[in-house]
Amino acid sequence: MSAVAVCKLSDLAPGSAAKFQVGDRAVAVVRLGDDVYAIGDMCSHAEISLADGEVLADDCEIECWKHGSRFSLKTGVPQTLPATVPVAVYIARVVDGMVEIETEGAAA
Ligand code: FES
Repeated sequence: MSAVAVCKLSDLAPGSAAKFQVGDRAVAVVRLGDDVYAIGDMCSHAEISLADGEVLADDCEIECWKHGSRFSLKTGVPQTLPATVPVAVYIARVVDGMVEIETEGAAA
């Protein structure tokens, strides 16, 4: 599996999200403290970028700004309606200060 470096960890403010294109996937990368999470950027309810939503650090979730569904950053599973379908989650890690994402082999 190959990892793609998308940015420096220092480019992401703690508690923030940013959208990156990794191959053919749009990925929302979220920083919580010094940990990073990566989930499919597109809300499963409608075509809305999750990276534009609010990061809920205490619950490790991100909230879609359009209708308020909250997605787990660990599993991609919606925790609240109206979304009912999970979004993809990807492996994210920090290597030498760079955020790396793996999308190969991940469920779409
Ligand atoms: S578009 Fe995301 S909850 Fe409706």
